[in-house]
Amino acid sequence: MSFLKDLAETLSSIFSDTPSSPSSLNHPQENSGDRTMDGVATGNERTAYKLKGYFELAKEEIAKAVRAEEWGLADEAIAHYHNSQKILAEGISTPVPSYIASSEHEKVKSYRQKISKWQSQVSDRLQTLSRRAGGTPSVKQSEPQSQRVAVSQSSSSARKGASLSAPSSGKVSSATRVPSNRISSHKPSQESATADGSDPKLVEMINSVIVDRSPSVKWEDIAGLEKAKQALLEMVILPTKRKDLFTGLRKPARGLLLFGPPGTGKTMLAKAVASESQATFFNVSASSLTSKWVGEGEKLVKTLFMVAISRQPSVIFMDEIDSIMSTRTTNENEASRRLKSEFLVQFDGVTSNSEGLVIVIGATNKPQELDDAVLRRLVKRIYIPLPDASVRRQLLKHRLKGKAFSLPGGDLERLVRDTEGYSGSDLQALCEEAAMMPIRELGANILSVQANQVRGLRYGDFQKAMTVIRPSLQKSKWEELEKWNQEFGAN
Ligand SMILES: Nc1ncnc2c1ncn2[C@@H]1O[C@H](COP(=O)(O)OP(=O)(O)O)[C@@H](O)[C@H]1O
Ligand SMILES: [Mg+2]
Repeated sequence: MSFLKDLAETLSSIFSDTPSSPSSLNHPQENSGDRTMDGVATGNERTAYKLKGYFELAKEEIAKAVRAEEWGLADEAIAHYHNSQKILAEGISTPVPSYIASSEHEKVKSYRQKISKWQSQVSDRLQTLSRRAGGTPSVKQSEPQSQRVAVSQSSSSARKGASLSAPSSGKVSSATRVPSNRISSHKPSQESATADGSDPKLVEMINSVIVDRSPSVKWEDIAGLEKAKQALLEMVILPTKRKDLFTGLRKPARGLLLFGPPGTGKTMLAKAVASESQATFFNVSASSLTSKWVGEGEKLVKTLFMVAISRQPSVIFMDEIDSIMSTRTTNENEASRRLKSEFLVQFDGVTSNSEGLVIVIGATNKPQELDDAVLRRLVKRIYIPLPDASVRRQLLKHRLKGKAFSLPGGDLERLVRDTEGYSGSDLQALCEEAAMMPIRELGANILSVQANQVRGLRYGDFQKAMTVIRPSLQKSKWEELEKWNQEFGAN
C-alpha cells in the first residue's frame, strides 16, 4: 500500500502552498496568527495536509463507486469502495504528533471525523452491495436507480443506500434531482428489450442518471450575459412554454454553442435553463459518454436521443463538448469516432423533425478544437466573455453583501477597475480569499472571539488576495477566443 502513501504525499505537497523544508518541522507554534502569511509550514500542518490528501483520494474513489452504481455496475462499485476503504484506513492510522497547535488540532480533528464518517458509510454501502450480489442478479442492475428514485418519492424502505451520495459536487451527487412525477411513468426494471430494440438498461440509466433538473441556479443569480440569456429564452424557455407561438419561421434553432474562457458562467447558464425551463434536461458529461464502465458510447448516444425525443421538449446539454467532439485525430480511437458520427446522425434526425423540440446545447472553452461537422450543427454560437466592468461590479456587489463583507463605494469601484481580466470564478475565489484575512489575523483567538468583533473587510485585504489569486486565463488564450468569436460567433 505504499503507493497510496506516495500519492497522499504528492497530494499533500500540492495542497501545501508554502514550501516545506525539514527545518520547518521544528516549529511548533502555539500562536499561529500570521503563519500562513509568513510562509512557514509546521509539522503540524503537514499532518492536516496528509489527512486531507487521504480524504481527497478516498473521495475520488467513492465518487467513482457511486458513479458505477448509477450505471448499474455493482462489481465495479464494490472494487472502488474497497479502494476507498483502504485509503481511509491508512488515513485514520496516520499518527498525530503530540505537539500540535490548537488551530491545527481543529483541522486534524475535523478530517479524522470526516474520514471515520466515510468509513462507516462505505462499509454500510459495501454490505448492502454484497448482500445484493449474493441475491438475485436480475435485480442488481436496476436497484441503485430505484433507490435514488425512492428518495425523491420519499416513501420507501430502500432509502439507506441513497444516503451515500457522491462527495463531489458534480452530476453524481444529487439523489433527489429526478422529479418524481417524471419517474413514475418509468418502470425501474425491465427484463426485455424495448420495442425499438434499444437496451432497457441504457434507457433506465439515461432516465435516472442523466436527466437532471436540479433547480440549483436561478436566472437572476447570473450576472450579465444578457445576450446569452436572451438566446436561451428564445430557444428553450419560451418555446417550451408557448409552443403555439414558436412555429414556422419562429421555429427555434436546435443547436447552440456557449463558448468562452473558463469560469465565466457557461455551466451556470445551462443549469439555470434546467431549472427555469419546462424541458426535460439531459446533462451529459464527456465522462459519462466515454466512461470506461460503459465503452458503449455510441449506443448510449443513440439511446439518449431516443429518450430525449420520447420526453420532449428536451434539452441535451453537453458540457465541455470539445472533449468528445474534437477534431484531434491523434488518440482518436475507433470507439470515439463512432460515437461522434452517431451523434451527428442523431442530431440531424432531431433537426429535420419539425414537430419535435429537442435542443442540443454545447459548452466549451476550446471552440477551436471542435469538429467542423459538429460546429456546423450548433448554428447559434454565443460568446461568453470575461466579465466587463459592469458585470464585475454586479458580481462583486452580489458577493460582498452584508455588513461583514461590504466595502465602501469608492473601494468597490477601485476593485472593479483592478480586477480586469478576472473571470467570474476568479472573482469568487478572490472574495473568498480576502474574506479570510480578518480571520487569519485572529490567530489563536479564533475560538473565543465573538462573531461581531471580527473586523470588516478592507481594500488592503483584496490587494493581498490579488497577489495569491491571479486571473486564470492567459492573455494570449483570451485573444485567441476573441478572434474565434469574430470569425465564427453569432455576436
Ligand atoms: N456571470 C456570472 N454570474 C455569477 N457567477 C458567476 C458568473 N460567471 C462565473 N460565476 C462564478 O463562477 C463559477 C464557475 O462558473 P461556471 O459556470 O462553472 O463556468 P464555466 O462553465 O464557464 O467554466 C460559478 O459557480 C459562479 O460562482
Ligand atoms: Mg463549465
